[in-house]
Amino acid sequence: MDKTIDDIQAEALAALESAETAEEVGRLSVRYLGRKGLVTQYLRNISSLPENERPDAGKKANQTKKILEQAIKSAEKRIAAQQKTELVGGVDVTLPGRPAPRGHMHPITQITRRICDIFVRMGFDIVEGPEVESDYYNFEALNIPKNHPARDMQDTFYIAENIVLRTHTSPLQVRMMEQYPPPLRVVAPGKVYRCDSDLTHTPMFHQIEGLLVDEEVSFGDLKGVLTEFVQKVFDPDTSIRFRPSFFPFTEPSAEVDIQCVMCRGRGCKVCSHTGWLEVLGCGMVHPALFENVGYDTRRYCGFAFGMGIERIAMLKYGINDIRLFFESDDRFLRQF
Ligand code: PHE
Repeated sequence: MDKTIDDIQAEALAALESAETAEEVGRLSVRYLGRKGLVTQYLRNISSLPENERPDAGKKANQTKKILEQAIKSAEKRIAAQQKTELVGGVDVTLPGRPAPRGHMHPITQITRRICDIFVRMGFDIVEGPEVESDYYNFEALNIPKNHPARDMQDTFYIAENIVLRTHTSPLQVRMMEQYPPPLRVVAPGKVYRCDSDLTHTPMFHQIEGLLVDEEVSFGDLKGVLTEFVQKVFDPDTSIRFRPSFFPFTEPSAEVDIQCVMCRGRGCKVCSHTGWLEVLGCGMVHPALFENVGYDTRRYCGFAFGMGIERIAMLKYGINDIRLFFESDDRFLRQF
């Protein structure tokens, strides 16, 4: 026997004292007191000692066994107590945290910002105006005559006789020209209101208006700006076309179609098999507006455009019911 029982005991006590986990203590218990453990073997070997040494050696080894059993118990206790101190107020602070759900910008806000960014990069400023608007800015100054169907009670929310909830963002054209001299380059996003409700219409929705006034502005500039916009917001190879149209505040006026984003122009349900989707209205600013704000009509000309933001978002994300945007259903909103 090379190690004395004292050596074994000292070594075991030191190891137990520095043990940091229950597993470590378990391993030490096996190493010293297990069936093939050092103390157990020692006890077994006593029979091979000279007879006169046996009683003493046996006594000592049994003492060591008891001491180690005690030391194991107290090491276990010490480790258990240490683990408890990691529980703060009954909470195990060593567990990984449960992430709190975080909100994010509404998809309409996201797409509005994206659209604004595209125009800002082309030199446009972002402006805003009131949602409760006078008849003058919403209709009169925009060359919309008294008998125009847009003024119909069925479309327009009237607050008072001459006060409405704006039906479009076009009043900002007049407000900006009144406030600033030319040249002018602005986009105006915001809420608009129409008494209308179905799969593709909600009483409140969003538009973004664009207005550029300068010397020698052509319809070609309008086409360039809108092509850049469409190709930035949709695919870079999306083509667009202009269809002649009518708005009282632009002349000539056009509606802009983009190549169907679903079928790439081949024809599908979304584009009613035409290959094209209508996305916005535009035209050259009508001289009557310049007269209303006192701009020199011989020197200045410009273009304006307006589009529904939900429409852009619906086409971009393939959404077929506009009402989803305003129901605050987390399962829908989470996807953006
Ligand atoms: N205001 C028009 C609408 O709501 C859109 C438009 C804006 C058309 C600017 C021409 C120029 O339908």
